[in-house]
Amino acid sequence: MNAKQAAGYRAADWVEDGMIVGLGTGSTAYYAIEKIGERVGQGLKIKAIATSNASEELAKQYHIPLIHASEVEQLDLAIDGADEVDSNMALTKGGGGALLREKLVAINSKQFIVIADHSKMVPHLGSFKLPIELVPFCYEWTLGQLRRNYNVPIEMRTRDGELYVTDNGNYIADAAFGVISDPGKLSQELKAMTGVVEHGLFVNIADMVVVGYEDGRTEVI
Ligand code: 5RP
Repeated sequence: MNAKQAAGYRAADWVEDGMIVGLGTGSTAYYAIEKIGERVGQGLKIKAIATSNASEELAKQYHIPLIHASEVEQLDLAIDGADEVDSNMALTKGGGGALLREKLVAINSKQFIVIADHSKMVPHLGSFKLPIELVPFCYEWTLGQLRRNYNVPIEMRTRDGELYVTDNGNYIADAAFGVISDPGKLSQELKAMTGVVEHGLFVNIADMVVVGYEDGRTEVI
């Protein structure tokens, strides 16, 4: 058992028969999906929506029934990882590039459980570079505006020497804020910028955090 596994497995305890569940993305969410999949194999009846193509594939491997958003108005529960969690349960997400779908799923869920190994717990967000999803059209202008507004290092994310493309066909800029003293204010500012599709700050969205430790213990906040 490792810390991510401990958190992911524990959060699966909150999944009940009949629920519509949002499945997160990343190496911690992997364990939650694995455990939910095991429970489905034992007769748990749920339906799910995945936050990335990768998680959708994983859910299919575990025979977790997937539905389309048009089939439900709201999810009962979403479980997802985070890159940082501060003392007010504000999050940085999007290290895996799935922030847009992750936020859509989280805000449209009655309950949003964050799963995190203990290293993700921080007093202030900002050490982890904040992912900001940009519309590809004229992204250079949006990037320039971001750099002028904040005067911090902001780099376009790449993969194999090419600009990284999200599951939604957008680009990601990663911004090294250092310390984000007011996540709510920054969240609103970024959201108001033309060319920014979404950003990885999740403020006042998480209902609960399940923290995992290497010895298999978990703590619920
Ligand atoms: C993906 C995410 C992930 O939840 C976040 O990056 C944490 O990933 P991991 O569980 O692999 O540490 O936001 O977009």
